[in-house]
Amino acid sequence: MSSKLIAPSILAADFANLERDIHMVNESEADWFHIDIMDGVFVPNISFGMPVLKAITKHAKKTIDVHLMIVDPDRYIKTFADLGSNILTVHFEACTHLHRTLQAIKAEGMKAGVALNPHTNINVLEDTINDIDLVCLMSVNPGFGGQSFIEHTYNKIEQLKALIQRKGAHTLIEIDGGVTDKNATALAKTGADVLVAGSFVFKSPNQMDTIKNLRSIANS
Ligand code: DX5
Ligand code: ZN
Repeated sequence: MSSKLIAPSILAADFANLERDIHMVNESEADWFHIDIMDGVFVPNISFGMPVLKAITKHAKKTIDVHLMIVDPDRYIKTFADLGSNILTVHFEACTHLHRTLQAIKAEGMKAGVALNPHTNINVLEDTINDIDLVCLMSVNPGFGGQSFIEHTYNKIEQLKALIQRKGAHTLIEIDGGVTDKNATALAKTGADVLVAGSFVFKSPNQMDTIKNLRSIANS
């Protein structure tokens, strides 16, 4: 079985010391950079935009996993490709023509991800799962870091895993929100492939050790 991956969420980094925090992730055992882009419309918060992503990708040496929490994401697919995104995840709830959006992301040479809000049923991916490289299951309501994990997520992982197997798809399951050392083992055992962790990593005293421990318990 392939390793479970850890993706620190830069939303929880110290923006006044971004270069330092990016180097920390580079030097750590983390696998990906998780980058949250919020527009203040799809979610009730604004994070950061293109110039900041450009500054991040200039220093980041690992996979850039961009999570778009914006309306009408099709407008910016090429922009995010040009800025160095490797994975581009759009929200199911923000896409009227999801199939077209997925093809457009892949046409720009990126992996295509779809995020589902906590209220959105797995069944909505029945007809697109074979076109999706990654499903990001929101385990909090998107918009803010530091929220509590929603326990129902475990049921959704099971349902999603069953769908992926039934359809013979190769989709990765990513969990985003409230991930800590308390739930990482259970999430990995239930079927998560990628764990996003923001506050748990960046608010900890030794961030590199926290990443190392999280990765090791997810793979235990
Ligand atoms: C929430 C974001 C998450 C967030 C996770 O809308 O999509 O990626 O940064 O933060 P924590 O790990 O603090 O819940
Ligand atoms: Zn995210």
